[in-house]
Amino acid sequence: MSGPQDELAGLASAGLLRSLRALDSGTGPRVIREGRELWNFASNDYLGLAGHPALAEAFIEGVSKYGVGAAASRLVCGTLPPHRELEEAMAAAKGCEAALTFPSGFATATGSLPALAGKDDVLVLDKLCHASLIDGARLSGATIRVFPHNDVAKLEKLLAGIRGKQAKARVIVVTESVFSMDGDLCPLREIVDAKDRHGALLFLDEAHAFGVLGPHGMGLAEREGLQDRVDFQMGTLSKAAGLAGGYLATSGAWRDLLVNRARSFVYTTAPPPALACASLKALEIIRSEEGQQLRQRLRENLRVIDPSHESAIVPVLLGENEAALNASAKLEEAGFMVPAIRYPTVPRGKARLRVSLSAAHSAEVVRDLAGLLLGRAQNS
Ligand SMILES: Cc1ncc(COP(=O)(O)O)c(C=O)c1O
Repeated sequence: MSGPQDELAGLASAGLLRSLRALDSGTGPRVIREGRELWNFASNDYLGLAGHPALAEAFIEGVSKYGVGAAASRLVCGTLPPHRELEEAMAAAKGCEAALTFPSGFATATGSLPALAGKDDVLVLDKLCHASLIDGARLSGATIRVFPHNDVAKLEKLLAGIRGKQAKARVIVVTESVFSMDGDLCPLREIVDAKDRHGALLFLDEAHAFGVLGPHGMGLAEREGLQDRVDFQMGTLSKAAGLAGGYLATSGAWRDLLVNRARSFVYTTAPPPALACASLKALEIIRSEEGQQLRQRLRENLRVIDPSHESAIVPVLLGENEAALNASAKLEEAGFMVPAIRYPTVPRGKARLRVSLSAAHSAEVVRDLAGLLLGRAQNS
């Protein structure tokens, strides 16, 4: 019987071994790793809220009022006032009847999809969906169909075929508004039209759009005026909101079903109430004038790297694992932390640098990074 060393050696020889490298500082635009100060272009703190004093204050107040932990699952006695307030505020912000929060975005996807679909149903996923959506789909036991990335014509064909055979099945299209490793947007309006034409539902993961897109930062569905046509608006509080936790906004009846059936909600301890207090504050800031200014700063920083790019994630495709690892190491030598992303996070042969921008970066440091990236492109 082979042991873990053999598998680790296999990963290492394929250039796929990963290991933990801790920071010696907190997070933020400037971090310390292995004794060196680096500009952080690796985090998902798109608005800089992870270091916002108002969120820290809300967190601390929450601890003083409610203690550090919820001490039980939500259904037992772990639902405290801030959990309820956060869900009500999130539902209102998303234009939905109800919302439910989870300990993480990952838990939202892996708990919700199996609660919403079962063996007689069909989940139709974009090829580049995040691991949490894929795992949630697999756990559901539903039939899984996959359409090529953002290809609405192929999606439409798939839906027509499914409906031809299973007129009554529950069919849910699952996609993301901003793709986590490519930073591109889904053609939301066309997808919404397609799913409506075929009597399907839409589960939209707004993880990287929440806080970033839309007049109030509520995501792509808000920006496109489509919130009332997206059946399940999922997202996470771990990226632009700077905290941790996931949410799903939907109708009251679907939410009640999730409360009963989503195993990652039912069988886990409620998130600390203080986290819900800080999340409420993050939601308030994201929707406020200050949130709009932060989005404006983020857009200005993006313009320095790529004027046509709409999300905070800018991929630099390099192909082979070694090329991505070397490029990341070179940038680190120059004082920039930019991660190399490899299989299985992205398809084989599509290794890349993933540059993530934040409103917390100064325009000057973004220009310095852009200069280095451009130099790379010209020398390659
Ligand atoms: C598209 C997408 N969905 C869900 C998640 C999971 O969210 P969380 O980090 O809150 O677990 C992530 C990232 O981690 C993501 O990129």
